[in-house]
Amino acid sequence: MRPFIWLLVCVIALMGSDRFYDEGKKLYFSKGCNGCHGTDAKGLGQYPGLAYRPVGFLNYKLQRYRKKIADTQQAQLMIPFAEHLTDTQIKMLITFFSQYREEFRHSTPVRSIKGDGGS
Ligand code: HEC
Repeated sequence: MRPFIWLLVCVIALMGSDRFYDEGKKLYFSKGCNGCHGTDAKGLGQYPGLAYRPVGFLNYKLQRYRKKIADTQQAQLMIPFAEHLTDTQIKMLITFFSQYREEFRHSTPVRSIKGDGGS
């Protein structure tokens, strides 16, 4: 039905996921995604978590934001962050999210923000 997704999955598998994972992680921070989705990519407040989400879903969402398609007002927030991503950058980010490893648990100061009680 959506052959390009399967192609994407194969490309990611073949290109050596480790490099893609590391590059995706770097992009996640350099593009400021962590500001909304959290240092550990598990979401923050109203912002959805991205870690462990399936490849097809992430790809669908990012492709749509990149085309400036927003189903909700919330989704419009994503457009400026997605519109300049290249195909390769999207693949790297998706590799980072979908193959997420628990590596931030002991190293992230941002975790301490969690549970501040809000307002
Ligand atoms: C200004 C805050 C903000 C930043 C920065 C941000 N996002 Fe988002 N992101 C959102 C919001 C809000 C949503 C939920 C939109 C919706 O409801 O459709 C979202 C949704 C997503 C989704 C779909 C997840 C879902 O459950 O719907 C993906 C994938 C995503 N963002 C990736 C990224 C990436 C990659 C970056 C960095 C390049 C990034 N985001 C930067 C606010 C942000």
